[in-house]
Amino acid sequence: MIRSKASVVEQNKRYVCPDKIRIFNQIGIDLVIGRREGPYIYDLDGKKLIDVHINGGTYNLGHRHPEIVAAMREAVEMSIDIGNHHFPSPLRGELAQILVNLSPGDMKYCVFAAGGSEAVDIAIKSARHATQRKKIVSIDNGYHGRTGISGAAGNAKTAAFFLSDAPDDFLTVPFNDPAAMKNALENNDIAAVILETIPATLGFPLPENGYLGEVKLMCEKAGTLYIADEVQTGLARSGKIWAVEKFDVVPDILVTAKGLSGGMYPIAATILNEKAGAWLHQDGFAHVSTFGGSEIGCHVAKKVAEIISRPETLEHVNRISTYLKDALCALQNKHSFLVEVRQCGLIAGLKFDGDMGAVMMSKALYDNGVWAMFSGYDLSVLQFKPYLFTDNALVDALMEKLDQAMVQCTAGSGQ
Ligand SMILES: Cc1ncc(COP(=O)(O)O)c(C=O)c1O
Repeated sequence: MIRSKASVVEQNKRYVCPDKIRIFNQIGIDLVIGRREGPYIYDLDGKKLIDVHINGGTYNLGHRHPEIVAAMREAVEMSIDIGNHHFPSPLRGELAQILVNLSPGDMKYCVFAAGGSEAVDIAIKSARHATQRKKIVSIDNGYHGRTGISGAAGNAKTAAFFLSDAPDDFLTVPFNDPAAMKNALENNDIAAVILETIPATLGFPLPENGYLGEVKLMCEKAGTLYIADEVQTGLARSGKIWAVEKFDVVPDILVTAKGLSGGMYPIAATILNEKAGAWLHQDGFAHVSTFGGSEIGCHVAKKVAEIISRPETLEHVNRISTYLKDALCALQNKHSFLVEVRQCGLIAGLKFDGDMGAVMMSKALYDNGVWAMFSGYDLSVLQFKPYLFTDNALVDALMEKLDQAMVQCTAGSGQ
């Protein structure tokens, strides 16, 4: 049955989330995603858009990557289903071994979850058990999810909305401020520091030279575990498998989600070193998740891991990132409206003039056939995240559309 866009919007407004629809409506974005393929999504009314939001990396490999679709089909044909999380499973064991081996440092275990927030909960619970400390340090306006625990480790206002803020146990410090971090750790009573390697919802500010390494050293001194939230930055987006590798940091715990699903079947994982994973020897039922590590998800994720591990994948990401960098630099020289380009591999934040600059650009790009989303905690920064297999022609098309959108946003302003 072909549904009209208006009827889909109306039904979702009534039964799913009225406020979200109202907000996008106010901005003038009425996207209802229909067909999707590679870097493209098609609005239900037929309009074609290049997707550079890619749901935070969920569509890292593009939409419906043929090998991922084939892996899904294969999983169904293998006569498997979600499986039973209490018993050993060949697929779960194989994926866990692959992820442990792909991770930096001396990781030992992999605990599966159904999504990123749950995987962050597992990371925090593991650090608390390992250190027998309760306090967690994160950065002001970091984003680690929306469950009770992961939400409390982020923006306090949002956690308070559901009365799940816990300011005595969840402390925050400004990003790129080693002195504030030192202060927070000085009583040796912090279980873990959790950091997105490049904080997405804050608009991808890049870690300053040496900052993450310094934080890791402070953690070691204070008996605190370092949790790398690589939900958005992992799986080859940065030009390395994990963005922490770019900054020479070896975490105690690493969280991956979104792109691990291949955009097809939900799965996330928390990868733990010996200290962080010791609880797995003590009480195997301390954390369980019916859908965590579902066997279909494991089969799909194994294919994701295989694709990102091919040497040609990282080679391509690094080559196209340089091409993108040069193209964005040329645009910045042309438009003073684009005040800053923050880029690490195919992770980019574009900062525009004015508090709402990125919201204006989101709308203008939407009108020009690109879906890019503003950063939730800094509305002047547009998240710009082309998928891994972006080629020169796609970068050129994106630059043309960015150029047009900037001309529209600044018409009559003299910029
Ligand atoms: C950095 C980061 N961590 C954790 C999460 C939570 O993941 P999920 O939405 O799958 O629960 C997100 C989601 O956007 C994220 O961006």
